[in-house]
Amino acid sequence: MIYQQQLRIPGPTPLPERVVRAASRPMIDHRGPEFAALLADVCAGVRRVFETENEVLVLTCSGSGGLESAIANLVSPGDEVVACVCGNFGERFAGMAAAYGARVVRLEAEWGQPVEPDDLRRTLAAYPAARLVLVTHNETSTGVTNPLEGLVRVAREAERVVVVDAVSSASSIPVEVDRLGVDVAVSGSQKGWMAPPGIAFVAVGPRAWALSERARAPRYYLDWRRARQEAEKGMTPWTPAIGVLYAVQEGLRMLEEEGLAAVYARHRRLADATAAGVEALGFQLYAAEGYRSATVTAAVPMPELDVDAYRRLLRERYGVVVGGGQGKMTGKMVRIGHLGAVAEGDVAQVLWAMERALEDLDVAPADGRALAAAGPHLAPESVAVTR
Ligand SMILES: Cc1ncc(COP(=O)(O)O)c(C=O)c1O
Repeated sequence: MIYQQQLRIPGPTPLPERVVRAASRPMIDHRGPEFAALLADVCAGVRRVFETENEVLVLTCSGSGGLESAIANLVSPGDEVVACVCGNFGERFAGMAAAYGARVVRLEAEWGQPVEPDDLRRTLAAYPAARLVLVTHNETSTGVTNPLEGLVRVAREAERVVVVDAVSSASSIPVEVDRLGVDVAVSGSQKGWMAPPGIAFVAVGPRAWALSERARAPRYYLDWRRARQEAEKGMTPWTPAIGVLYAVQEGLRMLEEEGLAAVYARHRRLADATAAGVEALGFQLYAAEGYRSATVTAAVPMPELDVDAYRRLLRERYGVVVGGGQGKMTGKMVRIGHLGAVAEGDVAQVLWAMERALEDLDVAPADGRALAAAGPHLAPESVAVTR
């Protein structure tokens, strides 16, 4: 009997009790004053997290819908678009642009490596007509956090409009939209925001608005202009996921009570603890050193381990659910999510279970080495904060 599942995939993330309660409120009129107040409060909170004065649009869709909205509103068929690709999510983003008729120029980095700003500079010089640059901030499939500041600087110096997929970074890793000059930033409610899936946030800056006026791709449900028009009246164009918005509102309160600097520090600390623990178990960290994500750790186990059987055992015997590999890494790695409502004890439980499960499968004895290695990175500060 598993009493409580330890959900350690990189999103959806566990919901704190406060969030569950907020999400289960009675419904309200989405054209009425209560909804207008809710929308305004959520938008203001998301703006503080994104550190931006730009308008934040609230779309009822998952993160991918937010990303697709950027393509639909910024691309004209035949446009050249530069897509930075270093994993599965960058791949999908490039695929969306292609689906809207863009001629996609792919700047690819090997999986596990970041996209380098110097490579972007060279690519942009070779493609002067490409107006749009797509960047995945935190590549969830490989556990790499790209050097956002450098990439955005290069794109801005070349006078391109830069769209950042911040789905699995914003609210867990700083995304300073205004300071960096990010034209469009997109995130999704089920990640560090500690809410269920269903809402995408899209922060749109003035250069992106200007480009969207000229873009000729078809758009309707995801049309930013409609979203902006309705937002001025405290509404959304279509029926919004009201329950998810209540959850986001409560998640934002919790983030602000803890303080964003403390939230970011907690994510970094838990990522370092996880990395040390899985390395001690004999796993290889997939992401290049210096670029390892604070929200997800991707680790490749010893060749003799059957990853699917291992993940099944973790789930069924220990109640610990970790992610698997994606794309070409399917069945070859585990991905441990440590974003949102996660504290020291959660990481300790995961590492303990991972070590025990290796022994259960006769791969390696359990002698406490994972927790011993993680220990120096763990601090008691976060234990009480996130529930
Ligand atoms: C970096 C990144 N981009 C995009 C997505 C897609 O978001 P969604 O599954 O909410 O559509 C995800 C989801 O895991 C992600 O991690």
